[in-house]
Formats: sequence, C-alpha cells, structure tokens
Amino acid sequence: MLKELWKKRLDLVEEKLVEELREETALDETLCASMKYSLMAGGKRLRPVLLMAAADAVGGKGEDFVVTGCALEMIHTYSLIHDDLPAMDNDDYRRGKLTNHKIYGDGMAVLAGDALLTMAFEVMLRQKGVSPEQLVSVIREMSIAAGPCGMVGGQAIDLESEGKRIAMEDLRRMHMAKTGALFRAAIRSGAILGGATEGQLASLTEYAEKFGLAFQITDDILDVTGDEEAIGKPVGSDERNHKSTYVSLTSLQEAKKLALDTVDEAMEALEDFGEEADFLRDLVAYLVERNK
Ligand code: IPE
Ligand code: IPE
Ligand code: MG
Ligand code: MG
Ligand code: MG
Repeated sequence: MLKELWKKRLDLVEEKLVEELREETALDETLCASMKYSLMAGGKRLRPVLLMAAADAVGGKGEDFVVTGCALEMIHTYSLIHDDLPAMDNDDYRRGKLTNHKIYGDGMAVLAGDALLTMAFEVMLRQKGVSPEQLVSVIREMSIAAGPCGMVGGQAIDLESEGKRIAMEDLRRMHMAKTGALFRAAIRSGAILGGATEGQLASLTEYAEKFGLAFQITDDILDVTGDEEAIGKPVGSDERNHKSTYVSLTSLQEAKKLALDTVDEAMEALEDFGEEADFLRDLVAYLVERNK
C-alpha cells in the first residue's frame, strides 16, 4: 500500500508543481531556471505526502490540499539549496544532480532560495475550499516552522556546533528544529486543513515530532552508511564538516537503536486513530528501512 499510494501522491505533487509554476515565475529567466532546476529535481516529496496523509487521518480528503503541500515543498527545496552552499555544507550533489550553486553560481543560488521561500506563501494562498481561519492558521504554522525558532534556528545551531562536541540534549533540540520543524508544519497543516479536533491535533503533533527526529537520525546514519547513487547526495559530508550528529556523538549502533525507539514512539502517538491513519503508520515505519 505504501509504495502505490506514495507514488500516486508524488505524481500529483509533480503535476501540481508544474501547473503552479506555469505562470511567469520570475522577472529574470536565469532565476526562473534556477528555481525550477532544484524544485523539479525529483525529491521524495515526503512533506507534501505527509501533509495529505495527516488530512486523511482526521477524516479530510488529503488530495484536496496538494497545493499547500507544494508550497511547503518550495520551502524545503529552498532550505536544501542554501544548506548545500559553500558557506554551509559545501556539497556538490543533491537529488542526484549537481547542486544549484554548481550550475548557477552562489549568488543566483541564494536568490533562487529566497524566491522559493517567498513565493511559497503566495502559493499557500491559492488553496481553495478552506475557511480564512484555517488558511491563516496554516500560514502561521509554516512561517514559524521555517523561521528563526524553527528550521533556520536549527541550521544556525548546526553551524555553530561544527567541530564541537555538543550535549545530547542540544543535538536533539537542533534536529527537532532544523528538520523536525518542517515535518511538524506538514503534519499540523494537513490536520488543520482536514478539520482536526484539538485532541487529534495534539496526537498528530506528537507523531510529527517523533517522525522528524527519527528522520534526521536516519539522515545522519545514511551520511555514513548510504549509497551515493541511491541517496542522490554525497556521503561523508558530516564528517568532512566536523558536524555533531547522532552517529558522531554516539555510535552507528546506538543511533540505529534510537531511530527505532523514536519510530515506536511515533506509532504510539497514533494509538487513538483507526485505519484512516494507516498511511501515517506506514510512512514512519519506512524511515528506519529507507536507503534514500
Ligand atoms: C533532506 O530531506 C534534508 C533533511 C532534512 C535531512 P529529504 O531526504 O526529504 O530530501 P528530498 O526532498 O527527498 O531530496
Ligand atoms: C539540514 O540537514 C537539513 C536542512 C536543509 C534544513 P543536513 O545538512 O544533514 O541535510 P542533507 O544531509 O545535506 O540533506
Ligand atoms: Mg546541513
Ligand atoms: Mg547538508
Ligand atoms: Mg545530512
């Protein structure tokens, strides 16, 4: 079930992204090409898929919210373009292709990221069939998650902890922010759009936080054990940059165990849900087995 439904929704995201980008996207042709280059490079589209799955879990129709999912994918793609820059992780490959700055130069890559982030908020406003209150709540979720108390805050901690041995609790906080925040926004936004009750939103938030943490732990593991071809980005980037990761602070074995335990906790958060949350269950189970 996981593979088919994921593929179906991934295709929907690809189609919708092309449609939303059809209108003149940028004043400058190179900027436009640079934005499209990274956005359409074929990510897993996990955040939009999760957003839709969270809406399903509360009795909504996930596919109705694909446009909001696409907006989030724009924010995520911006975060990757900037993360790969020489001033940050200095990586040459992403999603199996040369990184944005390798093709368009550092300046244009910075601008493509800026443009995707800003455009995302306008794309969110294209979401139909929801109340103004729901729309405002979602925009609030997304802006907090992407900002200094979310993803960007986590990236800052990541930069500042290069070459240092940080405490486990600080590492956890960094992971929850740099990666967890966008997953949290994906799931909470999907739940809000799908009409979640307060109780459902609280349980799904718990699930989201565990999901994000387990995802980044496996990302750290794959940076050591992964196959470059499969993950589409260089392995060994963290070691080269003297990063604090779950692997560097504990061990490969310990990190794997932590990822498994965190997945179990995410499953527990879904206890009160029936089969409408099965896709969310499948998605979190996939994390510890993923090779990309
Ligand atoms: C990679 O995210 C960046 C992290 C948050 C660790 P993904 O593994 O979801 O990347 P894509 O979108 O599939 O390329
Ligand atoms: C940063 O984590 C994720 C974000 C872009 C916020 P990483 O630096 O570990 O991500 P990858 O491994 O390059 O995808
Ligand atoms: Mg990084
Ligand atoms: Mg990186
Ligand atoms: Mg990584």
